[in-house]
Amino acid sequence: MTEKQNWSVSPGQALRGEIEIPGDKSVSHRAVMFAALADGVSRIDGFLEGEDTRATAAIFSQLGVRIETPSSSQRIVHGVGVDGLRAPAGPLDCGNAGTGMRLLAGLLSAQNFDSVLVGDESLSKRPMRRIMDPLAKMGARIDSEPGGVPPLRIHGGQPIRGMDYTLEVASAQVKSAVLLAGLYAESETVVREPHPTRDYTERMLSAFGVEIEFSPGHARLRGGQRLRATDIAVPADFSSAAFFIVAASIVPGSELRLRAVGLNPRRTGLLIALRAMGADITEENRSEHGGEPVADLVVRHAPLHGIEVPVEIVPDMIDEFPALFVAAACATGNTVVRGAAELRVKESDRLASMAAGLRTLGIRVDETPDGATVLGGQIGSGAVDSHGDHRIAMAFSVAAQAASGKIEISDVANVATSFPNYDALARSVGFGSFTGS
Ligand code: S3P
Repeated sequence: MTEKQNWSVSPGQALRGEIEIPGDKSVSHRAVMFAALADGVSRIDGFLEGEDTRATAAIFSQLGVRIETPSSSQRIVHGVGVDGLRAPAGPLDCGNAGTGMRLLAGLLSAQNFDSVLVGDESLSKRPMRRIMDPLAKMGARIDSEPGGVPPLRIHGGQPIRGMDYTLEVASAQVKSAVLLAGLYAESETVVREPHPTRDYTERMLSAFGVEIEFSPGHARLRGGQRLRATDIAVPADFSSAAFFIVAASIVPGSELRLRAVGLNPRRTGLLIALRAMGADITEENRSEHGGEPVADLVVRHAPLHGIEVPVEIVPDMIDEFPALFVAAACATGNTVVRGAAELRVKESDRLASMAAGLRTLGIRVDETPDGATVLGGQIGSGAVDSHGDHRIAMAFSVAAQAASGKIEISDVANVATSFPNYDALARSVGFGSFTGS
C-alpha cells in the first residue's frame, strides 16, 4: 500500500538497470474469478498484489471460495464449480476496479442469489449501463443508482438467455460480462466487436477447458459448460511497464531492461506509437508465459517527435494514454490523439486530468471531445492533481524526470490499486526522490 497521499517528485538521473514489473491486473482478476468457478484446485503465480485484484479475491472469499496465499503473488484457489458460489452476507466491495465490478456483474446476474456490488468514490461515478443493457437483454435484472452508476443491485434467480450481441463501445469489460453471463445460458452467446479488444477472458476460459471460439473482434461460446482447474502464470503488466518505457525514452543517457513483460498484441499499441515517435525499444528473449507472448524490453533514451496516433490502435493502448501524453510533452512538434473518448470514463477523465496537469507545467494542450493535441516543450515544475487516478499519478512522476524542477502530485494513494511499491522501484533505477505526506 502506498502510504503517502501526496508526492513531491524530483528529477533524477539517467535510468539504468534491470527490473521486474508486477503481475498483469486484467489477467490476475480473471485468474481468481475463473479458478473460483472451476472444478478443482488452481494455483496462480505472479498474481498482482494490488488493491484492485485483492478486492476481487476478497469478494470470492465472501462468495464461499477458499483462497490460500502461500506467499506473496501466489494464490491457491479451491474452485467450487460454476454452480457452487454461495450468497454473500453483505455488499461486495470492488474498490477502485471497473474490471472487477463489470465482470462480476455478468457472473452474479446468472446466480440464484441476490448480490450488491459497491465501489469507491471513483468507481461509484463510472458508467454501468454499458453492461446493464446487454445483460438485461440476456434476462438479467440489475438496478443501479440514477444515471446508471453503482451500487449495482443484482437480482438472482433469473433465467439467462444467450444472444448475438455487437458491442457499442470497444470494451473488453463489456464483452467479458456478456460472455460470463453466457456461460450460464441455455443457448449460445456471440459477441462481435467493431474494434477488437483484449482477449484474456477468451484465452483464459479456453485454458480452463471451456469450448470457446474466438478471433479478433469475435467470440462465441455455448452455455452450460464447466471449467476445469488449471494453473495460471500471470505475465508482467504491460500497462505498468509503460511508465518505465516512457521514462527511459525521455531521460537522456537511460538504458533500462524490463524483464519478461506481457506483450499481448491487444495491449501493446503504445510500442507502435512510441516507435513511430522515434523511441528505441528492443525486444529480447521472446518466449511464452501462461500462453501469453512475453519478452524483455530494452529501452534506451532517444529524441522523440510528435505523431498523429493512428485511431485503429487506440483500443490497444487505452490504458497507456497518460504515459503517452508525457512522451508527447517531451517530443518535438505536435502529437494528435483522436477517437479516444473512452478516456473520459476511466478512473478519472484522463483527457481532462492530463491536459490540466500538463498545462500547469507549461505544456500546450488543446483538448477535443475525443482527444487532444499536445505540443512538446520543456516541462516545468508545479503542482498537479491526479484526481485519485493511479495512472495519472504515475504519469506525472515520469514527467518529473524530464522537468526543470519538482512536481507536486496530489491524491496518489490509489497507485497501490495497480502498482504496489511503484515509488521504490522507480527510485531504484534512478528516479529522483518521492517525498510527501
Ligand atoms: C480491462 C479493459 C479495459 C481497460 C481496463 C482493464 C479489462 O477497459 O481500460 O483497465 O481487464 O478487461 P475497457 O474494456 O472498458 O476499455
